Amino acid sequence: MSINFSEDIQLTENITNPSYSSLDDGETNLRPQFLSDFYGQEKAKGNLAVFIEAARMRKEPLDHVLLHGPPGLGKTSLATIIANEMGVNIRKTSGPAIEKPKDLAALLTNLNDNDILFVDEIHRMNRTVEEILYPAMEDNEIDIIIGQGPSANSIRLELKKFTLVGATTRSGQLSAPLRDRFGVILKLELYTHEELLTIVERSASILGIALDKGGAEEIAQRSRGTPRIANRLLRRVRDFAQVCADGIITKPVADDALTKLEIDSLGLDAVDRKLLMSIINNYAGGPVGLDTLASTINEETVTIEDVYEPFLLQQGFLTRTPRGRCATRQAYEHLHIEFMGQQRLDM
Ligand SMILES: Nc1ncnc2c1ncn2[C@@H]1O[C@H](COP(=O)(O)OP(=O)(O)O)[C@@H](O)[C@H]1O
Ligand SMILES: [Mg+2]
Repeated sequence: MSINFSEDIQLTENITNPSYSSLDDGETNLRPQFLSDFYGQEKAKGNLAVFIEAARMRKEPLDHVLLHGPPGLGKTSLATIIANEMGVNIRKTSGPAIEKPKDLAALLTNLNDNDILFVDEIHRMNRTVEEILYPAMEDNEIDIIIGQGPSANSIRLELKKFTLVGATTRSGQLSAPLRDRFGVILKLELYTHEELLTIVERSASILGIALDKGGAEEIAQRSRGTPRIANRLLRRVRDFAQVCADGIITKPVADDALTKLEIDSLGLDAVDRKLLMSIINNYAGGPVGLDTLASTINEETVTIEDVYEPFLLQQGFLTRTPRGRCATRQAYEHLHIEFMGQQRLDM
């Protein structure tokens, strides 16, 4: 296995950032292969199961599927699951990887009947490439230009009936024409404590990690509602259990390890706390604009929006108002800062 060190360093610094996935050693073993081992997301999963069953009964390809939600919730896993459940092949690519219309044309013309084309980060596909997709998704054909200048010719190519599965962390950035061409749109939500608990226990048994109920609960509790983080914390806590305890992950062992990793009792990491602290200390609790906040804490705005905010909003630590982000009373309480009332909030 090749190791990319720069990513490795980011990973240790950002252990709860679900975006850093390429070093997830063993992640492939943990990736659920069928709907039956994909826990949680009952709404999305239930609907998907019906659509898959119906398509299989009609011996047709599944309608195009768009999966959206924060990183680490199972979008890529679901794409593979769809292929496995349909019994078809899957080709995987990503929006930024398709540079030219002809790259996409090559991918599309190589698909067989009912195959799945998975495009990760589909919102990052460039517009000229995207336009090839419209007729491909709607009528199974593409128009490509052969040659240049006055002798250029447009020819139409028939495609096999395929299913596009797109994944995105930001469905709002998808153009309306593209979005409208997906027959199935599934939104993934942050996982509940019970769901994460099951996922942690499943991963531990696959990886042969000894853990008791208390240990599993502690990891689930501090995983920000995200399976990828749960799996990553499980591996790191295992390291602490091996070196500092007798190898078994119990509640105190997990608590100790996670505290050393700077993950607090509710799963907030150093960046979460810095973000809330900055709103409280520098902007009197808010509102503060996203760009201002991002430069104050030296993070990218997209990282804040995609990675940090969903969890802080869900936990009720942060609110979004038209005038910017505000820290809530719960945030003050969690950080043990006296709440003097919202000073700049129109409430
Ligand atoms: N519902 C689930 N049940 C079990 N494990 C899951 C589930 N969703 C995600 N995972 C785990 O989390 C990891 C990250 O999921 P992934 O599909 O790559 O997320 P995304 O593509 O949304 O970023 C997977 O490798 C898998 O181990
Ligand atoms: Mg993914």
